[in-house]
Amino acid sequence: MSFSLSRRGLVLGASATALAACTPGGGGENFINVYTARHYEADRALYRGFQEATGIEVRALTGSAEQLLERLRAEGDQTEADLFVSADAGNLWRVKEAGLFQNVTTEALEQNVPAHLRDPDGAFWGFAKRARVIIYNKANVQPEEVASYDALATARFRNHIVMRSSTNVYQLSTLAARIERLGAENAKAWAAGVKANFVRDPQGADTDQIKAVGAGEAQATLCNHYYYFRMSQSEDPADRETIANTGLVFPEQAGAGTHVNISGGGVTANARRRDKAVQFLEYLVSDEAQTMLAPLNSEFPIRPSIQPSPELAALGSFKEENIPLDALGRHQAEAARIYEEVGWR
Ligand code: FE2
Repeated sequence: MSFSLSRRGLVLGASATALAACTPGGGGENFINVYTARHYEADRALYRGFQEATGIEVRALTGSAEQLLERLRAEGDQTEADLFVSADAGNLWRVKEAGLFQNVTTEALEQNVPAHLRDPDGAFWGFAKRARVIIYNKANVQPEEVASYDALATARFRNHIVMRSSTNVYQLSTLAARIERLGAENAKAWAAGVKANFVRDPQGADTDQIKAVGAGEAQATLCNHYYYFRMSQSEDPADRETIANTGLVFPEQAGAGTHVNISGGGVTANARRRDKAVQFLEYLVSDEAQTMLAPLNSEFPIRPSIQPSPELAALGSFKEENIPLDALGRHQAEAARIYEEVGWR
């Protein structure tokens, strides 16, 4: 069962135990092994749906993207992993760069996944989408003042910005997208401008930045939309207050569109069950799976024709940035260097 495997996956440090969990033997032979950095109930519903549709059991081993990549690398051609699934194209690109994905292209995948939400070579394919949005404090900021990412780098926001660390892959991908679109020099000027506006050194994750803005410690920040969305659905009085004090803007609507990223997956280079793994990738973007995922997931469906949940749709529709997804990986090292140079740790 995927359930017990997932639980064992939590002790990934004990790699011998975890490897045994992925070795065929227990149960039937009709299965695939997925290394996944996602650990959502929504994903388990997808595994069940796939098994019902095809008879193929999904055995999931969970861990952080870094842990799973290191593991895949160490296992080499001995790996039992057929697929690698993670949020953020930056993470998936690292797997591609390590030579641990194989390129896969099928008609169903090409039809269902927009070109800018998959790797151009077919190394990985998106199945859900997230947006990098601006959260602002309603008492101090008008939404028009944060209509672009550029605004966060202007003198208007001196001592009013909080950000998480630049070592986080979301921040790396955000800057990598800017490098692709506007060049390294522009990206550096932006990063330096935002850094100059910090009211405190980077600390915490996306949710901590939202809380700081809600508490009035800062006026604006960047986060992935689903962190804000989850807080907006929370019953916790503290979360409700944060949401009451803040607003969300999809930046760049008059320009290139809001930066988006994917949750996605690819077939491992040494997959023992390649065909079944491809079947699973196709399932993830099928009508059935996308429709099932939409109300369970706080990300957006990868397919424009499938509606998100009404609650999520209430955040608003938005124009999204359209750049080749592998650019987020290709510019990752340069993005890290720029952050380092401007002192955004
Ligand atoms: Fe996240």
